[in-house]
Amino acid sequence: MYTLPQLADFSPAALDNAALELKSAVESESRQVSNDSEWKVLRDRWMARKSGILTQLNDFWLKAAPGPSKRDVGQRVNELKRIVEQEIEAALSRITSSASASRIDHERVDVTLPGTRRKLGAEHPLIRTMNEIVGVFKAMGYSIAEGPEVETDYYNFESLNFPPNHPARDTQDTLFIAGQQSKPLRERLVLRTHTSPVQIRAMEKQPPPLRVIVPGKVHRAETADATHSPIFHQVEGLAVDTNITFCDLKGTLDHAMKALFGASVKTRFYPSFFPFTEPSADVQISCFKCGGRGRIEGARCSLCKASGWIELLGCGMVDPNVFGFVNYDSKKYSGFAFGMGVERITMLKYGIDDIQHFFEGDIRFLQQFA
Ligand code: PHE
Repeated sequence: MYTLPQLADFSPAALDNAALELKSAVESESRQVSNDSEWKVLRDRWMARKSGILTQLNDFWLKAAPGPSKRDVGQRVNELKRIVEQEIEAALSRITSSASASRIDHERVDVTLPGTRRKLGAEHPLIRTMNEIVGVFKAMGYSIAEGPEVETDYYNFESLNFPPNHPARDTQDTLFIAGQQSKPLRERLVLRTHTSPVQIRAMEKQPPPLRVIVPGKVHRAETADATHSPIFHQVEGLAVDTNITFCDLKGTLDHAMKALFGASVKTRFYPSFFPFTEPSADVQISCFKCGGRGRIEGARCSLCKASGWIELLGCGMVDPNVFGFVNYDSKKYSGFAFGMGVERITMLKYGIDDIQHFFEGDIRFLQQFA
């Protein structure tokens, strides 16, 4: 390894020689450096303030130089210091750039590797059922209507013939938007408890005849359990024309239930009450598990609780009071309306036992519908 010689001869020729040796030494030493710690050893060997080679250069060459050659030696020493600093600087940038180059090399894209496969999404079972129901009614000439999920009291209740303070409002377990007390009642906002307000919005938009099908999300203040959820979905229907009778309602829903649950399903209309329909009915379908017999090989049918019937939706003839809110002439026109729960229908169709499955986003559940 190179050591700095003490000079006896300060002639230009001797100085040239010594300088050349030093230069080639620093060049070859810095060329051999290949990492950070080796570089630090190199730097300290040459440039350490106390006993680095550059400090020795001052002591052995410059201070030792006799008066007449001091100037020449001084210039050479400065030049050599510059070269040494440059070499060591260059060595550092060489190892850092090769380190980052090897990192880039490492990260380079290998186009021959198989790509990342993204799993295909699929329709959520609720959306699928909703589309299926809507499709059945579209085929009968219904058009699709939608409305806001945040509704006014007027659309959610008042125009549907729920008078203020009427006990029927209590059946809806309403979620109210906060801070509405200063507004008149009819302007106060609620999360819609059913899709029925869209009946009013549709009738406000166009005169009869009218047939609309309304898919949508609704909200009620209900504690979640296997059969209840504060968020669920409904599909609403409304038909208004001259000479619409209860027979049309029965025929329409009977057809729809057969389309959804199979041609062998029977329907039954059971008296019920809704403020916006008169008369009102609950529709039941014959149990498709036990064929309406209530028993399977002597055992009680668990699906219909041995009754042979499954309650599925609410419906009725539009109450003339409702027509009054939208300036439809109730002497000339009549209509029917119905509303069904999408979760319930989906659970029945696929044998799902817990409504929460729809909202948990568990891939293992959803995958079964892909
Ligand atoms: N809106 C009613 C409910 O949510 C269902 C319904 C709709 C009943 C249309 C009759 C007519 O319970």
